[in-house]
Amino acid sequence: MKIKKIGILTGGGDCPGLNPAIRGAVYRALSEGIECVGILDGWKGMLEAKSVSLSLTDVEYIVNKGGTILGTSRTNPYKKEGGPDKCVETLNKLGLDALIAMGGEDTLGVATKLYKEKNFPVVGVPKTMDNDLSATDYTFGFDTAVTVAVDAAERLIDTGRSHRRIMVLEVMGRHAGWVALYTGIASAADWILIPEEEINIQNMCEHLKKVYERKKTALVIVSEGVILPGLKTEKEELDEFGHMILKKRGIGEQIAEVIEKNTGIETRVAVIGHIQRGGAPTLFDRILGLRVGVKAVELVLEGKFGYMVALKGNNVVPVPLEEATGKLKTVDSDWVNFMKIFFK
Ligand code: F6P
Repeated sequence: MKIKKIGILTGGGDCPGLNPAIRGAVYRALSEGIECVGILDGWKGMLEAKSVSLSLTDVEYIVNKGGTILGTSRTNPYKKEGGPDKCVETLNKLGLDALIAMGGEDTLGVATKLYKEKNFPVVGVPKTMDNDLSATDYTFGFDTAVTVAVDAAERLIDTGRSHRRIMVLEVMGRHAGWVALYTGIASAADWILIPEEEINIQNMCEHLKKVYERKKTALVIVSEGVILPGLKTEKEELDEFGHMILKKRGIGEQIAEVIEKNTGIETRVAVIGHIQRGGAPTLFDRILGLRVGVKAVELVLEGKFGYMVALKGNNVVPVPLEEATGKLKTVDSDWVNFMKIFFK
């Protein structure tokens, strides 16, 4: 079938690199004379048939822009009455031959189901600052988020050293510790807490006391998804995909309290939250975004629906969507052992 018109949507949490990916897809499509349409606000736009046309001038200068020009949402069509059928209706109504869905586990999970159940002509582009998507080495958004977090961590070291305090930095990452791990290793942190590892408060506090004797400061990076046994957790709200909304847990604050109580050393906490998701994409995220955007259109041209574009080594290759969405990619024991080398 000759492809004449494609739709592009961005779903789930935004992240730097989405605009480069949109740009890559539109440029590649235009080189084949394919018309591009942007679906607004993720799957919500497919349910409501909300779209805009995407021309060269719309995407010419977005390679350096954070966020997504198409808007996003955490809408799940499978949680709406007749949702999947509405997505098919919109595809037909807009005259789309294919849809490129850019998202993480949730957005691509919907794409996987639509492809399997409705033979929906969809190709996936992986994105998430959490870097927790299987079947790809990296997702764009991660490099920028960690770069921002490392900058924050280094600022905390300066003020912590001046005031002779322990500093705690809480970073995002949901149920995977990649953001905390990379931030901690790259900013010379003294302890890193990730959801994949059970917390040993006694070990951590003894280590921090030892470090403090030497440096009169210490830095702890904590991932928002860490569980502190026995300590207060507010009732967690769930999003439409059944994920906990972690923003109200205050794990950083709880960790800081525990550290201060157990070490007797004044401790402060900073939570950078959504700051990690904004701003210009780093060079890595720009290039990766452009590459996967271009490749997604090439998969459409080959009729490779039900696939996602993945980064494997330095190659951008197709992988079945199902492989990417079946299981989260979490931090393994090799990385944990590597991280511990730097706790001295
Ligand atoms: O999945 C990306 C992410 O930034 C997570 O790290 C974080 O837990 C979540 O999104 C925050 O979501 P929201 O923007 O809906 O508050």
